[in-house]
Amino acid sequence: MQRVRKAIIPAAGLGTRFLPATKAMPKEMLPIVDKPTIQYIVEEAIESGIEDIIIVTGKGKRAIEDHFDNAYELEQTLLNKEKFDLLYKVQEPTKMVDIHYIRQKEPKGLGHAVWCARNFIGNEPFAVLLGDDIVKAETPCLKQLINENNRTHSSVIGVKRVPDNETNRYGIIDPIDQNGRSYQVRNFVEKPELGTAPSNLAIIGRYIFTPEIFMFLDKQEVGAGGEIQLTDAIQKLNQIQRVFAYEFEGKRYDVGEKLGFIETTIEFALEKEELRDDLLKFMAGKLDLN
Ligand code: UTP
Repeated sequence: MQRVRKAIIPAAGLGTRFLPATKAMPKEMLPIVDKPTIQYIVEEAIESGIEDIIIVTGKGKRAIEDHFDNAYELEQTLLNKEKFDLLYKVQEPTKMVDIHYIRQKEPKGLGHAVWCARNFIGNEPFAVLLGDDIVKAETPCLKQLINENNRTHSSVIGVKRVPDNETNRYGIIDPIDQNGRSYQVRNFVEKPELGTAPSNLAIIGRYIFTPEIFMFLDKQEVGAGGEIQLTDAIQKLNQIQRVFAYEFEGKRYDVGEKLGFIETTIEFALEKEELRDDLLKFMAGKLDLN
């Protein structure tokens, strides 16, 4: 089986949970301290051995393309002022990897966004990474899934345990059999109603697919919420070939919703030497007020 070389990063959603911030700015460009969330995702893909990335963009997403492109005027100004540290930071994203773009003309759902990149992928296994989740792990999360794909030669879906009262926010797996961190799966269910989830193992924004997934995305069937759901296509793929779930190691940060975004920002800021002491003092002061 071919190795996984290409990745899709869907970034064409409306980002309604962050409105009005996302009215004119893509959700994927919201910074965690000083780096946009999408840069963390691109870095994970590269560290996992991905060579080609396609970002699915939509209306109002130009800033993503600009971020991974040169900014001549800014670079020249920083050079003239001999601000070499800043120059490095500005140039870093442009040097990462070949990034391609395709537009999803309408936000018809995650399944549709992945389908939009089908010609770029062709007939080989590929990765999908969502910007809603940042994962800190010794072995990059996507690399863990690629290793599992090398073992199973099958599609592999990244999962993580979530609290029982949050299962209705995710795609959930119904596991049949467990082998270490790897699960065989009976069903993949999109956003089950509370109390009906077959487990609390939730699909968390990292996937490896065989190209057969496009057979089902091609049908463009509309599912939960009136959207073309990726989980529905996974469920159908699992009926013709094995699809594994893999409970990856590492800490997952949910940056797709406000509280998770704020928690992640604080945690990442506390890791920065120049911010840590002042931030701790500020937070201690806030606690004293209560
Ligand atoms: P979300 O469900 O988080 O949707 O999509 P969203 O629109 O980005 O954010 P909210 O829920 O309205 O706040 C998961 C991922 O799928 C992409 C999003 O950009 C995000 O990375 N997506 C979703 C698309 O690319 N196209 C779509 O039609 C829907």
